[in-house]
Amino acid sequence: MSCHSECGKKLRELSPSYEAQAREEHVPVIRPESLKLLLDAAKKTKCERVLEIGTAIGFSTAWLAAETGAIVDTVEKDPERLKRAREFWKATGLDDRINAYLGDADEIVPKLATKHGYGFVFIDAAKSRYSDYLDAVYPSLERGGAVFADNVYYLGLVKGDAYPPHKHRTIVVNMRAFLKKIQDKDKFDTTIYDTEDGTAVCVKL
Ligand SMILES: C[S@@+](CC[C@H](N)C(=O)[O-])C[C@H]1O[C@@H](n2cnc3c(N)ncnc32)[C@H](O)[C@@H]1O
Repeated sequence: MSCHSECGKKLRELSPSYEAQAREEHVPVIRPESLKLLLDAAKKTKCERVLEIGTAIGFSTAWLAAETGAIVDTVEKDPERLKRAREFWKATGLDDRINAYLGDADEIVPKLATKHGYGFVFIDAAKSRYSDYLDAVYPSLERGGAVFADNVYYLGLVKGDAYPPHKHRTIVVNMRAFLKKIQDKDKFDTTIYDTEDGTAVCVKL
């Protein structure tokens, strides 16, 4: 059996109700337009190994595994979410290509990045930490590989240079620093899409 296609079929069957349930429970899973951009960007890299930072209940993880055929390493700090994710991957038959790490991405990501090379990295965890995640993964990202970051406009507050509301200040300031970093033309060929909450695709030069 080609797991790639069989598992993809199972995922397409299970995905709509799983996604609907996540939205009902306000579990933050990637939105449809951004998911399409994510999968297009990942497939373009022809990656063999993917790193996802921020698993939640494993929705995007499953799609990345099914559509790329790659091994996916994924990091999540919430044990309950990760438990649900594992059950979902098992039901779709994708579990043998997904390695999940429970804990703080600040600690786990630098360790993974010294062990593996990555062709594709999906940054989707703590919004104030994107810049640090990028620094941690950059040495392990292959040339021609890509970083995909979701929610880079963060509720629209990151656009422009207006002073952000106090409670969002750290995220907005740090996200602006991240956007500046990915627009370094010596390091990345970056496209920022104005879809949903803003997504960035940065190809390593
Ligand atoms: C937006 S959700 C991920 C959604 C998932 N990528 C998807 O589209 O299906 C972000 C997740 O990152 C996790 N997270 C936030 N900060 C984290 C950290 N420091 N370390 C590990 N996980 C973290 C949250 O618990 C949350 O489940």
